[in-house]
Amino acid sequence: MTREILLENLRREAEGCRRCALWKTRNRLVFGEGPADAKIMLIGLGPGKRENLQGRPFVGAAGKFLDQLLAEAGLNRGRIYITNVVKCFLPENKASEEQVEACTPYLNQQVEIIQPKLIIALGNVAACYLLEKFGLRCEAMERVHGRVYEVSSLTLSLRIVPMYHPASALRSPGLRGELMKDWRELGKTLKDLGLAG
Ligand code: URA
Repeated sequence: MTREILLENLRREAEGCRRCALWKTRNRLVFGEGPADAKIMLIGLGPGKRENLQGRPFVGAAGKFLDQLLAEAGLNRGRIYITNVVKCFLPENKASEEQVEACTPYLNQQVEIIQPKLIIALGNVAACYLLEKFGLRCEAMERVHGRVYEVSSLTLSLRIVPMYHPASALRSPGLRGELMKDWRELGKTLKDLGLAG
């Protein structure tokens, strides 16, 4: 089966998901979008209001800023696979441990199918989930943002780059410059790794 078909089957399964209570406030599942063979995956926390209405990730205010950050790194959004740790609307913009545990089997399968070379983890929840999944210790975002972690398992070999969530700069405008700088640096790293564009 092709990666596209595997992802489509998984999406259908997730659309009927009732593993946690978030299905009750879900309008549209936000499964993820992008090429099934993307070299780069970008993983956020979970859908907000707009994403819940449109069924697409990062289409609200944080998404607008993300688009600027991608441009800063010289990245083309259409070549990245974008998804979230949690696939259903998070009314308070916070995910509980139970919600993360219930939903991440979908994320794990997406990563296994896509086999990315690099994952950009946006914010603490995505960064900690991914680092810990590969046996690394999760540290404060202030310390780890922009670092490149090489990780591998039996089936995967990739890099993880934790980054501040774009929404954090909307809440604390003082962080904006730091995010822009991080993404410019990321652009250079991607070039060195042959992953730019
Ligand atoms: N914030 C996220 O973490 N994900 C989205 O899709 C939108 C906002």
